[in-house]
Amino acid sequence: FWSVWPITKGCWVHDLNSDLTSLPFCEDSGLDELSTDGRALDGAVKYNMRKSLDLEHEGCYLQAGKKDCLQECGFNATAKTIFIIHGWTMSGMFESWMHKLVAAVMRRESEANVVVVDWIAMAQQLYPDAVNHTQNVGLDIAAMINWLQDEQQLPLEKVHLIGYSLGAHVAGYAGMYVRGTIGRITGLDPAGPMFEGVEEQRRLSPDDADFVDVLHTYTREALGVSIGIQQPIGDIDIYPNGGDVQPGCALGDVLAVAGNFMEVMKCEHERAVHLFVDSLMNKDHMSFAFQCTGPDRFKKGICLSCRKNRCNNIGYNTRKMRKRRNSKMYLKTRADTPFGGYHYQMKMHVFNRKEADHADPTFHVKLYGAHNDTANIFVDVHDGAVGLNLTNTFLVFTEDEIGDLLKIQLSWEGDSESWNSVWKNIKKTFWSWNTKPPKPVLEVRRIRVKAGETQKKFTFCAQDPGKTEISPGESVTFVKCRDGWEVKPRKR
Ligand SMILES: *[C@@H]1O[C@H](CO)[C@@H](O)[C@H](O)[C@H]1NC(C)=O
Ligand SMILES: *[C@@H]1O[C@H](CO)[C@@H](O)[C@H](O)[C@H]1NC(C)=O
Ligand SMILES: *[C@@H]1O[C@H](CO)[C@@H](O)[C@H](O)[C@H]1NC(C)=O
Ligand SMILES: *[C@@H]1O[C@H](CO)[C@@H](O)[C@H](O)[C@H]1NC(C)=O
Repeated sequence: FWSVWPITKGCWVHDLNSDLTSLPFCEDSGLDELSTDGRALDGAVKYNMRKSLDLEHEGCYLQAGKKDCLQECGFNATAKTIFIIHGWTMSGMFESWMHKLVAAVMRRESEANVVVVDWIAMAQQLYPDAVNHTQNVGLDIAAMINWLQDEQQLPLEKVHLIGYSLGAHVAGYAGMYVRGTIGRITGLDPAGPMFEGVEEQRRLSPDDADFVDVLHTYTREALGVSIGIQQPIGDIDIYPNGGDVQPGCALGDVLAVAGNFMEVMKCEHERAVHLFVDSLMNKDHMSFAFQCTGPDRFKKGICLSCRKNRCNNIGYNTRKMRKRRNSKMYLKTRADTPFGGYHYQMKMHVFNRKEADHADPTFHVKLYGAHNDTANIFVDVHDGAVGLNLTNTFLVFTEDEIGDLLKIQLSWEGDSESWNSVWKNIKKTFWSWNTKPPKPVLEVRRIRVKAGETQKKFTFCAQDPGKTEISPGESVTFVKCRDGWEVKPRKR
């Protein structure tokens, strides 16, 4: 579908797959009237207003200067107007995500004017040439919006531009050139090459709209470039899964051969679109992102706060916040829709009272909830080792809703249960050749938990107060402390 866009002088095309002789409804008015902005690209950019969920069958084209088309297309100037802008293309066709995004936007905003900006002809070029066109395409969109303002008093605050990849920077130019300030621009994994590090006027930036939100999904650098831009460029920049490796995309550690590599690339880059679609459709199951100074701190579980607007919904549901440029936010997601999951911050003090100074435990936790239990989840302490005689903070992510957390089982992996532990054990025995080290014993008395999604905090105490010690191959179970936060008997 949508492989070739017919050139039309009228507003309507019944069947995009039929030839160009299909009769346009709307007669030419004032023959090729020039757009209000002389610099615009004289018809090379097409504005396809979607009016039906049946995407294969009809299209109605807005053309600057043609009033009749507004009416024919049923343009409603008091409703929201959402422009969807594609990126660079090798195939010269719309990719399948476009279909999904348009359908999701239309379902969510049934009264909105949903307009697909078609600049395929200029996007299907060598990448640097396509980049070179982004400015002109942005200008053309600005001219269209200016005309709508003149003709229909279109309220700019109800205009939302959604641009994917190169299309995000096109949206940036449109926002920069339009008369006034557009309400919102959403950048879906904005393109990196030739935009990373350039000045604000030449890429999407917070000044291009009243609110600019950005999802970054493929910011892994290869050969010095990253497909998605790495730097924050909006008011809010959300980096799902750190913005680099998306679950379900990487083919394990298998060396990606050329074909696979393209698939992985597409999967990670396009994930931004699918997360956005997910946010449009799963209004009841929103995913939250949490502000953090960097991915490493987030992965350590340090940033799960919602105080002072430090958390926000992702995608379409992102709330506008007071101007706060380049606020980086993070979350983990599932590999498929619905992408949202559940984040927990856990803090536990690991006591080393029995001279187990070389203990290098690999912990797992299993969470028991009111509705369901999780599998054993690897505790990623992130900077290498569990700190002894220290309070360790870590992040636990569950894909399934388990309901209220009731019980936590902490286990220390045995010496031969995983390659990780086998390796640690080899290292240990290497240093202590023939003296078999005694079984290390550590102690954990309680685990403090904060649920990111609910912001609830609980303290979990050892179920059996006499059983707080743990060794390889063993586990300790924790339940909610009887008196909530209060755990130690108070000194009187
Ligand atoms: C135009 O949009 C507004 C706001 O969404 C809505 O109230 C109104 O009914 C719409 N008009 C028509 C003719 O659909
Ligand atoms: C971009 O276009 C300008 C002229 O419009 C040209 O001078 C320049 O070489 C082009 N850049 C690239 C990378 O093609
Ligand atoms: C932890 O503290 C204990 C005393 O409580 C001490 O024996 C041990 O050496 C300390 N271990 C580390 C790694 O600091
Ligand atoms: C419980 O979780 C498992 C996966 O861990 C899932 O297959 C199952 O459907 C869940 N049960 C309920 C009642 O949600």
